[in-house]
Amino acid sequence: MTVPDPGRAMRLDVVSIFPDYLAPLDLSLIGKAREDGLLDVRVHDLRDFTHDRHRTVDDTPYGGGAGMVMKPQPWSEALDHVLALDNPSGARPHLIVPGPGGQPFTQALARELAQEPWLAFACGRYEGIDERVYEHAREELGLEVSVVSLGDYVLNGGEVAVLAMVEAVGRLVPGVIGNAESLVEESHEDGLLEYPIYTKPRTWNGRDVPEVLLSGNHAAIAAWRLEQRLARTAARRPDLLHASHASLAGTAVEIAAATPGDVPELHVLMRACWVQEAVANDTLDIPALRESLDDVRASLDTTQTWVARSAGRLVGAVRTSRHDDDWFIGRLCVAPDLQGRGLGRRLLEHAEATAPDGIRTFSLNTGAKSADNLRMYKKAGYRLVDAPAPIPGAVTLVKRRHR
Ligand code: ADE
Repeated sequence: MTVPDPGRAMRLDVVSIFPDYLAPLDLSLIGKAREDGLLDVRVHDLRDFTHDRHRTVDDTPYGGGAGMVMKPQPWSEALDHVLALDNPSGARPHLIVPGPGGQPFTQALARELAQEPWLAFACGRYEGIDERVYEHAREELGLEVSVVSLGDYVLNGGEVAVLAMVEAVGRLVPGVIGNAESLVEESHEDGLLEYPIYTKPRTWNGRDVPEVLLSGNHAAIAAWRLEQRLARTAARRPDLLHASHASLAGTAVEIAAATPGDVPELHVLMRACWVQEAVANDTLDIPALRESLDDVRASLDTTQTWVARSAGRLVGAVRTSRHDDDWFIGRLCVAPDLQGRGLGRRLLEHAEATAPDGIRTFSLNTGAKSADNLRMYKKAGYRLVDAPAPIPGAVTLVKRRHR
């Protein structure tokens, strides 16, 4: 096994009375990431921090009631041990305590936790851990402490939850999944469940692959997949569908080439969208914000502009233009009340799908502080390039075209 590079590896400590329960962390992608030195996982036995013959970790609850409570002393010693181990800098982990009474573990939380350099997991058993351990960890040890639940059901202890959390977080650590693009289109990444997938053979047991997937029409495939995602989410997880999402689900969004008749509405939509960008980036010096009605009208002649309409309302737009073998995707915007629901992604896919032969890269610009845009573009496979800012405060992102 490669010795983890402390500057690079994410450190994960797990304390449990059943260390063997964590053995699956040696397997598969997480095991490989450990071997490759990307994850530095250490499992500790809570009973090693007891001092009696029976290695006791629990006792009866004050105030009565069913079950047993985990004693504070072994936990405090175990945490001291974890903090002292290979930690000359005195850094502090984020302490995660799995429990059914915690905040829900979601993909968004997994993403947040994947940014942390060090996580420590305290696996409770029985009725849970003495409350003073949490206070001690926060107040004396200076740890951020989060109680996190896998779901609304009760497990026998935190170990299964830790296995799930380490897998969900670990696979988001750069380098753990070989092909980062496979992280891009996944259930929960943008609030919708994933579309159905098929592989060869084309007909199996009398069942055909949906015709659209064989069409080679990338725009049609993208539209079909979004429809499937919305339908699936509505059927299986209606709770995920925001009111506006539902309205988008109920009414088809149509993307069409912009015409001069679209210009006044498009101008209003752009203003609304780029005022948001101006606020996010703390500048009014954004060309898109300053385009006049005449500029927008003129742009229809110099670029290919697409508009998205839902029940007649203009809800999004994008422009494309060719620069040698690069397809520049500009002015991508979605009505503020409908953002975060996959429409920007759909416009982006549409813009990409309309690129002619000979295009090798897609490129676009956004504000350096436009966090939502950056997240969406990165999820769609775009990477920041180290190029001079196209305008002050903006960045360039590029993606290679896959054919
Ligand atoms: N421990 C017991 N039940 C749990 C749950 N639902 N999530 C996380 N940890 C747990």
